[in-house]
Amino acid sequence: MAATSSDKLIIFDTTLRDGEQSPGASMTKEEKIRIARQLERLRVDVIEAGFAASSPGDFEAIKAIAGIIKDSTVCSLSRANDRDIARAAEALAPAARKRIHTFIATSPLHMEKKLRMTPEQVLEQAKQAVRFARQFTDDIEFSPEDGSRSDMDFLCRVLETVIAEGATTINFADTVGYGVPELYGNMLKTLRERIPNSDKAVWSVHCHNDLGLAVANSLAGVMIGGARQVECTINGLGERAGNTALEEVVMAVRTRRDHFNLDVGIDTTQIVPTSKLVSQITGFAVQPNKSVVGANAFAHASGIHQDGVLKARDTYEIMRAEDVGWSANKIVLGKLSGRNAFKQRLQELGIHVDSEAEINAAFARFKDLADRKSEIFDEDIMALVADQQQSHEQEHFRFVSLAQHSETGERPVSKVVFSIDGKEAVSEGQGNGPVDATVNAIEAKVASGAELLLFSVNAITTGTQSQGEVTMRLSKAGRIVNGVGADPDIVVASAKAYLSALNKLHSKVEKLNPQL
Ligand code: KIV
Ligand code: ZN
Repeated sequence: MAATSSDKLIIFDTTLRDGEQSPGASMTKEEKIRIARQLERLRVDVIEAGFAASSPGDFEAIKAIAGIIKDSTVCSLSRANDRDIARAAEALAPAARKRIHTFIATSPLHMEKKLRMTPEQVLEQAKQAVRFARQFTDDIEFSPEDGSRSDMDFLCRVLETVIAEGATTINFADTVGYGVPELYGNMLKTLRERIPNSDKAVWSVHCHNDLGLAVANSLAGVMIGGARQVECTINGLGERAGNTALEEVVMAVRTRRDHFNLDVGIDTTQIVPTSKLVSQITGFAVQPNKSVVGANAFAHASGIHQDGVLKARDTYEIMRAEDVGWSANKIVLGKLSGRNAFKQRLQELGIHVDSEAEINAAFARFKDLADRKSEIFDEDIMALVADQQQSHEQEHFRFVSLAQHSETGERPVSKVVFSIDGKEAVSEGQGNGPVDATVNAIEAKVASGAELLLFSVNAITTGTQSQGEVTMRLSKAGRIVNGVGADPDIVVASAKAYLSALNKLHSKVEKLNPQL
């Protein structure tokens, strides 16, 4: 069924909340601010900036984002209790436009086994939560967690009640990715038909990707169920198998406007830069064949396809690479570029630098890189600034320099100089390869006891001159963190990544998972 008249589809991004719940994707306040600024550039309607009551770090990040973002509504998640809601309201206080998103589980399984509450208690708590939240803002979203496995009669009672209390958005959550498109879409349709005051709220979809159906379910929720808000994340980041990928929903609706007949306010040319930023900050690489944002999404390898595209692009391309922000790797700056050209490029890339002193520091790093690498691409500039902001905010361990020796038949040796709380430390190590030797050298001094879960190297651009971007994922005492480092020397990049991960472990952020 095609939508009859064109209306707007609200894009609600939850990369900073649901996305951050992926093991290892935790972000610092500064990283969240950078992503939030980019989401605003992408023109998302709502940014779910976090779950204020989950940790002081989340609270501070939401508060900072609320004070900075002007064009998107800023939202905080909260469980359905007064303490969480008051904390969300406090964090959102500086926002130009704010939303409180409160939720409680409604499926028999969750109510009985997780909440240990009766359905009547859940109904009452949902009602009181929305009533309490209304004191702080008129923009209230309510989610029945595990909605797609809930009893329809009970759901109708809960949702009618919360709408009557003033909930303005109802988010039908497929928390465990159990839905299949037709059924999920029809459940939503039934709810909207059966609930007498359903027209007083915007209906929203929130789908997880456990069966690889998150995008399909979301679109069925829109087309069959009449949802006009989609909750999604950049690169489909999210709990377990992830959430609905923003870029896929947006490009489906744009490319097949003939079918969906809906408007989205997104600036699609910002999709790829946003994807790259999120991937760089979280260390979650984007698979090459990923729709829209994968490196191969617009690459034609077979001769027949190449020939077709050269004759008429639309023979094999349904979208244009430049419309989603792919730019051919072009040399943007070089050794002779001046500070003004550098500053202008930062602005064009939407990279926010707080002060002239920071621009000077970034420019010094740029000059240093340009001495070692003749062609500087946008990706290099992004990595360089990320590296600077990372070392700026996490001062405990800081990379200084490295000397390394490898020779066929010899065991590699590495000598790493780094500072610990400003005090320089020198440490040596051996290993089965240069990276192993470097990590052993750092560990000889730090003795973190952390377990290395992932070591990955990615060339930022093409050619052997490319900077290597290294991700190190460490785990300790149940916490998983990612460190990222970039340098033309991948051993140096590895040392930076390892120290960055240690810094995150050192920051000891305790965080509550909303769904536990
Ligand atoms: O998946 C889920 O149910 C959620 C809710 C908190 C909306 O993330
Ligand atoms: Zn979720």
